[in-house]
Amino acid sequence: MFNTMTLTKAAGALIGALLFLLLANWAAGALYLGGESEVAEGEESEQAYAIEVPDAPAAGGEAAASGPDFATVFAAADAAAGEKVFGKCKACHKIDGGDATGPHLNGVVGRQVGSIAGFAYSDAMKNHGGDWTPEALYNFLLAPKKEVPGTKMTFAGLPKPEDRANLIAWLETQK
Ligand code: HEC
Repeated sequence: MFNTMTLTKAAGALIGALLFLLLANWAAGALYLGGESEVAEGEESEQAYAIEVPDAPAAGGEAAASGPDFATVFAAADAAAGEKVFGKCKACHKIDGGDATGPHLNGVVGRQVGSIAGFAYSDAMKNHGGDWTPEALYNFLLAPKKEVPGTKMTFAGLPKPEDRANLIAWLETQK
């Protein structure tokens, strides 16, 4: 009755089941921790992804899912702090008028979207229209692929409103 094959199958099934339980347990723990830290602080944490909780009690009163409104955050922006945030863009963007993986970003505030001659924009960016007002940049930099679907800028985004505001304030000083 019990040949090696049967035993191997039985053992395999058992290990598979244990592994599944282990993973399920781990996933539940990760989700739980993420949710808890969000509720506890009421502000964005350092985690690389956001867990959206539609019905979470609005701890900060006004604060919506996307954070405080643009004008409020931008009014308190710190350009010096923004220079550090630009470290995340440097791999692809220069501020000396030269283009790299991405177009140069000196003078980008107020510039027409997708307007650097000679830079090979994606069709999505070329056809987006409008100008890079501080507010447009603020929305774009939260989630580039969401704001301009099809963009070839492979950057996840800056979840912290302060980071975006500080960076834009600094970019404004780079003519
Ligand atoms: C991995 C490379 C990469 C990183 C990192 C990156 N970008 Fe980009 N960026 C690009 C590319 C490529 C484009 C052109 C997108 C297109 O044509 O769809 C672009 C386009 C842009 C544009 C539109 C410019 C225009 O002329 O219309 C802005 C604004 C921008 N990036 C800002 C930033 C900022 C600010 C950061 C840092 C927070 C950043 N990018 C990080 C690659 C990158």
